[in-house]
Amino acid sequence: MHDELICRCEEVSREEIEKAIEDGAVTTNEVKRFTRAGMGLCQGRTCRRLVERILSEKTGIPLSEIQPSTYRQPVRPVRSDLIREHKENKSEGEVNDE
Ligand code: FES
Repeated sequence: MHDELICRCEEVSREEIEKAIEDGAVTTNEVKRFTRAGMGLCQGRTCRRLVERILSEKTGIPLSEIQPSTYRQPVRPVRSDLIREHKENKSEGEVNDE
């Protein structure tokens, strides 16, 4: 049977998430630590609700009581000279980013 991919960023399957729960994970953060589901580029935007639903199904904890996992904002470092250049262009009216 083809296994369902739940976290596309970290390539974590439903089977891996269910195994983590069988191994003792009872919170979304524990599932995340066991499997890396939710640690990818989108920081769980795509997979978070699916992981919560699987956790609820496997543990019997109502979905409304499943705490969302922690996550970081998906940010990337930006060189300071690019910010300065952007500000200069904006003040000269060359950039319209509103
Ligand atoms: S799909 Fe899971 S972190 Fe992006």
